[in-house]
Amino acid sequence: MSFLSAIVLAAGKGTRMKSDRPKVLHELAGRPLLYYPIALALELSCDPVAIVLGHRAAEVRAAMEALFPTAGGRLRFPVQEEQKGTAHAVLAAREALDDFAGEVLVLYGDVPLLGRPTIDRLLAAPAGRIAFLTSRPPDPTGYGRVVREADGRVARIVEERDCGPAERMLGEVNAGIYRVPAAFLWDALDRIGSANAQSEFYLTDLVALAAGQGVTAVAAPFEEVAGVNDRADLAVAAARLRARINHAHQLAGVTIAAPEGTFIDAGVRLGRDVTIEPGCVLAGDTIVEDGARIRAYSVLEDARVGPGAIVGPFARLRPGAVLEADVHVGNFVEVKNSRLGRGTKANHLTYLGDAEIGPGVNVGAGTITCNYDGVNKLKTVIGEGAFIGSDSQLVAPVEVGARAYVGAGSTVTEDVPADALALTRAPQQTVEGWAARRREKQAAAGGKPPKQRLKR
Ligand code: UD1
Ligand code: MG
Repeated sequence: MSFLSAIVLAAGKGTRMKSDRPKVLHELAGRPLLYYPIALALELSCDPVAIVLGHRAAEVRAAMEALFPTAGGRLRFPVQEEQKGTAHAVLAAREALDDFAGEVLVLYGDVPLLGRPTIDRLLAAPAGRIAFLTSRPPDPTGYGRVVREADGRVARIVEERDCGPAERMLGEVNAGIYRVPAAFLWDALDRIGSANAQSEFYLTDLVALAAGQGVTAVAAPFEEVAGVNDRADLAVAAARLRARINHAHQLAGVTIAAPEGTFIDAGVRLGRDVTIEPGCVLAGDTIVEDGARIRAYSVLEDARVGPGAIVGPFARLRPGAVLEADVHVGNFVEVKNSRLGRGTKANHLTYLGDAEIGPGVNVGAGTITCNYDGVNKLKTVIGEGAFIGSDSQLVAPVEVGARAYVGAGSTVTEDVPADALALTRAPQQTVEGWAARRREKQAAAGGKPPKQRLKR
């Protein structure tokens, strides 16, 4: 238990997403929408964090438990069976917060961009009374309006549908994020009715109930409190989050050549002096260590790139790709679930899947690990300092020993001992004068191409 707890409202259907997936599971920079307010609440040491679920509750809960495996007992998942409004949703969390007597932070599951400085200002408002975030969006339509007294004190919040013409003109809106003393919250919720245009229980009525004791309105930038209601909102929020993520990496010593065209997920970690060229996608829990360079148009997903390595242009690192220090992976190379040892090079047109490759290996252009037999994924092992000639296939399970050579164009099906040469290509035949004879025949036949026959 701490002094601060949180309630995250996430029971709504999200009808406007027009989706078979619950709205709060739609992703932003590689994480579901609902991840962000929960992560913020945990970062603020809120305990407990009650996440009010409704629509497809079991599925959403399982997704969150998987994302926050160490949050343990701090997360609670009350269910609001029927969505009867925001006050009704908060009430659904009452039992989960039963023994809690501090302040309650109310967050929305579909407001992912709330920044730490803004929430810190909300938390710094005078204690023991309600504080909430307000904003001035370019177009206030749809939001609850903040009504103030002549002296500037907050009087109440009026929902769009309950607004008179004068109230509708007000530009200051309720962001829906509150900090409320728990005792006041439960007492006030018992007094909130549903006599309004939507016959719903409005959490906003708290503000009018508390106005006598004074309510603190804290101004927030609109882009931080904008909710995600449809896929257009989702794209706008994603672009903002991406810009924020890129900016933070830049300040931490990463060169990003074209930030607007670089997609870095929230879970990605980048070292100092990493360079990212235009058009790259770094997804999932990718890690790129100090001084590595990700060249243009490369796609990395749950991959690990060691210090000083060079990836791309046009490379694809799939989950489980691990490149040790100074590895080079070049154009049109795909690496999946494979480790490449220090200084190993695979520079052109190659597929490496389920491979364990030692240090100092040269993987020639067009090498393919044949790792799949239609049923099983099979392993290729290449020892330190081996040389794989261009256009070779390594048919797994197979092992090429340390310092061994595979001749270009070989199909390797049996293990190659250390320091050996494996060569499987057919011997070359050279037929002198063959092309000239063919041309003559074709001319004699009035341009008709002759039957192909190999004659010495
Ligand atoms: C609410 C506020 C409005 C504010 C706006 C800011 C009320 C009555 N109005 O309006 O003043 O300007 O947010 O975005 O609070 N939810 C539930 N259960 C419910 C209803 C809602 O969990 O029964 C959740 C939704 O999933 C959502 C959040 O609460 O995450 C807000 O609900 P929403 O319906 O979007 O409220 P608004 O009408 O936008
Ligand atoms: Mg809303």
